[in-house]
Amino acid sequence: MAPRVLSSLSFILLISLSSNIIGSHSLSHPTCAPPPPVVPVPIFSTDVDLLQFALNLEHLEAEFFLYGALGHGLDAINPELAMGGPPPIGATKANLDPLTLRVIAEFGYQEVGHLRAIKTTVGGFPRPLLDLSKHNFAKLFDQAFEHPLKPPFDPYANSINYMLASYVIPYEGLVGYVGANPNINGYVTKRLLAGLLGVESGQDAYIRGWLLERAEERVLPYHHTVADFTIQISALRNGLAKCGIKDEGLLVPLELGAENRTCNNVLSADANSLSYSRTPAEILRTVYATGDEHKAGGFYPKGGNGRIAREFLEDY
Ligand SMILES: [Fe+2]
Repeated sequence: MAPRVLSSLSFILLISLSSNIIGSHSLSHPTCAPPPPVVPVPIFSTDVDLLQFALNLEHLEAEFFLYGALGHGLDAINPELAMGGPPPIGATKANLDPLTLRVIAEFGYQEVGHLRAIKTTVGGFPRPLLDLSKHNFAKLFDQAFEHPLKPPFDPYANSINYMLASYVIPYEGLVGYVGANPNINGYVTKRLLAGLLGVESGQDAYIRGWLLERAEERVLPYHHTVADFTIQISALRNGLAKCGIKDEGLLVPLELGAENRTCNNVLSADANSLSYSRTPAEILRTVYATGDEHKAGGFYPKGGNGRIAREFLEDY
C-alpha cells in the first residue's frame, strides 16, 4: 500500500502546486512569463560540457549552410563566434535553385543564433578545424556505397547533391540533443536544449521532405536514386556508431515503418515513432567517419573541441 499512498500524496501535492501557480497568474492580467521553475537552478555544472559538446555540430552546420548558400561563412557574418578557430577546409558556394538557396541561407543564419545561444549560456571554445571539402564528402559517400562513385560525389554541384550532403548534418544534432536531454538539469539549459532541438528537427524534416519528393529520381550521373542514397548513408552511420539502428533512410522495410504499416519514412524514428538518441561517443564515431571516438577524421581532421571530445582523443 505504501507506494500507492505515496503516489496519491505526490499527485495531491502536484495539483496544489499547479493550482497555486495557475491561480497566482489568472487573478492578475494575462502574462507571458513562464511559471517559476520547480527546481530553481538555472544551470547545473554537469549541463555545461554536454551543451558545449553540441558546439562541434553547430559549427559544422553553420559553415556548411552559410558557405553553401552565400559563399562565405561565420568569419564574414559573426567572426567573434569563431573565437579564433581555423577557417573550414574546402567549403564553397553550392549551385542551388532559388528556393533551396533561400532555405539554406535561413538555416545558416539559424546556426549563427544557435552558436550565440550556447556560447552566451554555457560558454564555449574556438571553432574546430572542419573539412567541408568535396573530397571529404566524396570519401563519405564512397564509404556509404562501399565502392568509389564515378565521378566522385560533389556536394556543391547542384541542389540534389547539396540536400543529400545536408541529410548527413542536422540529424546528428537532433539525435545528440535527444540523447543529452535526460542529463540536462538546469531550467535555463533545458530551455536552451528544447529550443535547439526544435529547430534542428525542423531543419532535418525539411531536408528529408525535400528529398522524399524526389525519392525515385536518379542522382545523375549515377544509377542510384535519391532514396538509395539516403538508405546507404543511414546504414553507414548505423555501422559507424555501432549501437544498432538509430538512423533510417527515406524508404524502410515495413517492420521499421510507423506502426509497421508503411514503408514511407519521411522522419527517422523508433518503434513508438519517438526520435532516436545518440551519446557523444556515438556521434563522434559517426562524424569522424572512423567508427572510433578516439580517432579523429571525417569532418574533424583534428577532432572535436571541448572537454568531452578532447578526453576521448587523449585516451587514445
Ligand atoms: Fe543548429
